[in-house]
Amino acid sequence: MTIDFTATQLATRAIHAGQEPDATTGAVVPPLYLTSTYKQDGVGNLRKGYDYTRSGNPTRDSFDTQLAAIEGGRYALAFSSGLAAIDVLLRSTLKPGDRILLGDDVYGGTYRLLSKVFVPWGVGLDVVDISNVDAVKEALAANDYAYIWVETPSNPMLRITDVEAVSALAHEHGTKVVVDNTFASPVLQHPLELGADHVVYSTTKYIGGHSDVVGGAIVTNDEETRDAVAFLQNSAGAVPAPFDSWLQTRGLKTLELRVKRHSANALAVAEHLAGLPEVEKVLYPGLESHPGHDIAVRQMHGGFGGVVSVQLAGGRDAALKFAESTEIFTLAESLGGVESLIEHPAAMTHASVAGTTLQVPDNLIRLSVGIENVDDLIADLDQALERAK
Ligand SMILES: Cc1ncc(COP(=O)(O)O)c(C=O)c1O
Repeated sequence: MTIDFTATQLATRAIHAGQEPDATTGAVVPPLYLTSTYKQDGVGNLRKGYDYTRSGNPTRDSFDTQLAAIEGGRYALAFSSGLAAIDVLLRSTLKPGDRILLGDDVYGGTYRLLSKVFVPWGVGLDVVDISNVDAVKEALAANDYAYIWVETPSNPMLRITDVEAVSALAHEHGTKVVVDNTFASPVLQHPLELGADHVVYSTTKYIGGHSDVVGGAIVTNDEETRDAVAFLQNSAGAVPAPFDSWLQTRGLKTLELRVKRHSANALAVAEHLAGLPEVEKVLYPGLESHPGHDIAVRQMHGGFGGVVSVQLAGGRDAALKFAESTEIFTLAESLGGVESLIEHPAAMTHASVAGTTLQVPDNLIRLSVGIENVDDLIADLDQALERAK
């Protein structure tokens, strides 16, 4: 019997969509198809359409099906990294002369790809504070844009953009909206339902969830975009390996549990840090003091995510010392794994935006709050702040 997923909730879809027990053996977990090629029953006579793993692989297909079901989108396509997904979406749907309106706080690698690869290719790029709807309105009045590119919450300043308002505005101008939903994950936020055209993920983060795989994905309801993306995906080949797809399939099954715990821990950490004299500012959309809090309450559900950024009163030196003094939080790039991580964006994840309008403050620390015991996490941050004095 096949399940009607439209009638089920996210946690059920996450465990069952694309995960039917193996037809041959009854294995409850679908097999990992670790193969590059497939036997043909006569020239061009393919079994279930598979001929070569760059073009298609059952393990990747099961991940695509599962992710599309969780997102509530028609199509999901997995890639070998988040940046590969972004690259293929843009390259397959843009041409030289088109313009992108980008938020002024995004992952440094996204800005590097757009400014150092797409701009020389002939794509125009303008940067505004995308969380400011008036700034978006002004930009749309001045120029034609193929895409508005939104990260919400953004990396690393945790700004919140009203996806519904920006999408409605964009569509009046024939502009499409892409939301990088990596920080929220499909548990907390569904941009397609809010009017966005496409969603992208670094699945390396919450979806993989265990800091052991690099991956990316595009989710869309638009068939034409899906076909263009699938064509370039096969033509250029930035596909995930079957084992990577399998790891992400396993990650998705526990996504809801993990993201809720990440969010609860992060809120407790943010509230604790907000009361300390060593901390100049805590950036976390779950705090009532955050300028995007009301929008976040409306468009996110079940929490505000696991990333908390803090600016230290002691400046750059205190920030570096703090990042090097934690014992449970590991000093490392990335986020979204079960273990807590700490990093200094100006010197690490966002070093590539130094000297641009996206430059981040040098007293900023980004925490990826894991799912450990929250009292242990807070005690670790307290002792590190003490050592950073
Ligand atoms: C918000 C966001 N988008 C995209 C990426 C790029 O993803 P990947 O590192 O999987 O290529 C990252 C990576 O940190 C990210 O944080």
